[in-house]
Amino acid sequence: MRSATAALTPAEIGAIARRIDRSVVLVGLMGVGKSTVGRKLAGLLHADFVDADEAIVDAAAMSIAEIFERFGEPYFRDGERRVIARLIEEHHGVIATGGGAFVNPQTRALILERAIAVWIDCDTATLVQRTGRRDDRPLLRNGDPAEILDRLRREREPFYAEAPIHVTSADGPQYDTALHILEAIDRWL
Ligand code: S3P
Repeated sequence: MRSATAALTPAEIGAIARRIDRSVVLVGLMGVGKSTVGRKLAGLLHADFVDADEAIVDAAAMSIAEIFERFGEPYFRDGERRVIARLIEEHHGVIATGGGAFVNPQTRALILERAIAVWIDCDTATLVQRTGRRDDRPLLRNGDPAEILDRLRREREPFYAEAPIHVTSADGPQYDTALHILEAIDRWL
């Protein structure tokens, strides 16, 4: 298979970057690599990167697990909606969102209207492997991660599918996924 790395020259990447006039917002399930890919994508675009989950933690001055425990999921979702609205307003180059953000109708509408939404997807086995590296995701704490992620996939896929750009995160380096996103944005713009 031809490596994606060879598919875009620095000049082509620069030309795509100049055509991107909105934030690129990454959506998709937990463990799909939104933050890693987002950093690489921002690097390619010479743009700013921000992780919405980290911004929520900063704003609340407590961890996501703590927010869920002390105030519940609806409270987290409300904070998530407000933080993402602020990040889009501030016009960051690339924004990685938490897996549930795009399910919220207001957040989804805002992202679709004001940014370029990119759905990153991969198979559940890879998600289980990647999410297994950290124990800070409250939704994966009570049950079998594969079952939970399969259920969330079924529930959320119709929403993620509203994103105009859909990229599969292959087993290879996430740098390649970032390049695939650029190619897909180039075709879409
Ligand atoms: C969540 C995903 C997490 C985080 C929170 C809830 C979800 O973000 O926002 O634990 O509902 O899928 P990541 O997708 O970055 O793990």
